[in-house]
Amino acid sequence: AVYHEQYRPQIHFSPKAHWMNDPNGMVYNEGVYHLFFQYYPGASVWGPMHWGHATSTNLVHWQEQPIALYPDSLGFIFSGSAVVDKNNTSGFGKGGKVPLVAIYTSHDTAGERAGRNDYENQSIAYSLDNGKTWTKYSGNPVVKNPGIRDFRDPKVSWNEAANKWIMTLATKDRITFFSSPDLKNWTKESEFGEKLGAHGGVWECPDLFPLDYNGQKVWVLIVNINPGGPNGGSATQYFTGNFDGHTFTPDDTTTKWLDYGPDEYAGITWSNTGERKIFLGWMSNWEYANVVPTEKWRSATTIPRELGIKKINNQFLVTSQPVKELNSITKPFTTLTNVKATDYTVASTTKLTTPYKLSLTTDAVKDFSITFSNKSGEQLVIGFDKATNQYYIDRTKAGESSFKQSFAAKTVAPRFAQKASIDLVLIIDAASVELFADSGLTTMTAIFFPEDLLNQIHVQSTGGVVLKSLQLSSMQSIWK
Ligand code: FRU
Repeated sequence: AVYHEQYRPQIHFSPKAHWMNDPNGMVYNEGVYHLFFQYYPGASVWGPMHWGHATSTNLVHWQEQPIALYPDSLGFIFSGSAVVDKNNTSGFGKGGKVPLVAIYTSHDTAGERAGRNDYENQSIAYSLDNGKTWTKYSGNPVVKNPGIRDFRDPKVSWNEAANKWIMTLATKDRITFFSSPDLKNWTKESEFGEKLGAHGGVWECPDLFPLDYNGQKVWVLIVNINPGGPNGGSATQYFTGNFDGHTFTPDDTTTKWLDYGPDEYAGITWSNTGERKIFLGWMSNWEYANVVPTEKWRSATTIPRELGIKKINNQFLVTSQPVKELNSITKPFTTLTNVKATDYTVASTTKLTTPYKLSLTTDAVKDFSITFSNKSGEQLVIGFDKATNQYYIDRTKAGESSFKQSFAAKTVAPRFAQKASIDLVLIIDAASVELFADSGLTTMTAIFFPEDLLNQIHVQSTGGVVLKSLQLSSMQSIWK
């Protein structure tokens, strides 16, 4: 499909029509990246949840597929994950075919209306044709609710130490880990987090995986939270530490956020991608997701991001960077070196007609701001403030915002890097910006709704920052 609607993301996945929220069941199998997602095909607002489906062979170009999972007698199909069951532990495989197994929450609204506490239970389904068609397991649900109202979003992965599948489940104000030899029978292992991290809202959509730090395995536990994010509403926090197959032990007690912007939520990683850990989130916020001014469809995903880990001040921090696959649609537009940017116009033409990527490196850690504007006079201001050591995104004048009072805001994120210069990558689409600073140590995502593309770029710096290098690249639409 080729899309021309106002605000339609050109380099991010969005469904052709109607509502989407969380990414679900992200799994790589036989050359295909699967992206399932919370989907309501009946309207462009949240409703009875299905799993929509899109596929890609390169993480860049997506093809929307038929709906994968429909609500059933156990309820709506809420968020969850998918695994490649290589050893056929589930027994779902037939004739040598390796099953894909989806693990999701069955959310029973009738039970909820009746005032029960046990209306969220975990179910499974399998596919023997690489995700095209799915069969729900007759023994569902496989994890029964013990009486906790928020009991959902299972993320399952194979754990070597346990020699079992581990399910990481969001259970209200903590994570509960379960183990299973076969994806059908689950045993509770442990709980984590009741007294750690942010608790301004309910815990949702977790993930658990190791990252390699110079040969050391560092376990990352992602816990999405709504509300209570650093810039209001929903956001993605994480913990670093160790998971021994039974229990997660954090290595520090600070609250850390994977993305400090207002519009990355429910982000988790793909399974079965080997050493790479590829993260993608829903690019919105529950504060206003249902009322943003796109009526044909609502919401998109972030770009896929490769996660890494760095140690700063004796603390592990997860880094995010755009996946390298995006380079295939990125073409140089303007390249500059050593420009003193007291008051400097990078692009003032209307020639820049596509989404774009702006990468720059400064000579020093100094204040600067970049104003992105269009012919309608709308502007988005992104910059760094040395006094507070913060990056910021100011969307107060970046377009339509009347749908929600708190939307027109300036949001901030801490700088963690300690080196003496700043590097910044910004990816700007029709209605979003993603900021990756200091090789991904600080990440921010924000949406906005301008009349047309913000294709004029102007840098200001009272301290006269020198842009050691600046590259502006146009990005080609992923829709054909
Ligand atoms: C997160 C979430 C999940 C739930 C799903 C319902 O955005 O609330 O916890 O499974 O959305 O659509």
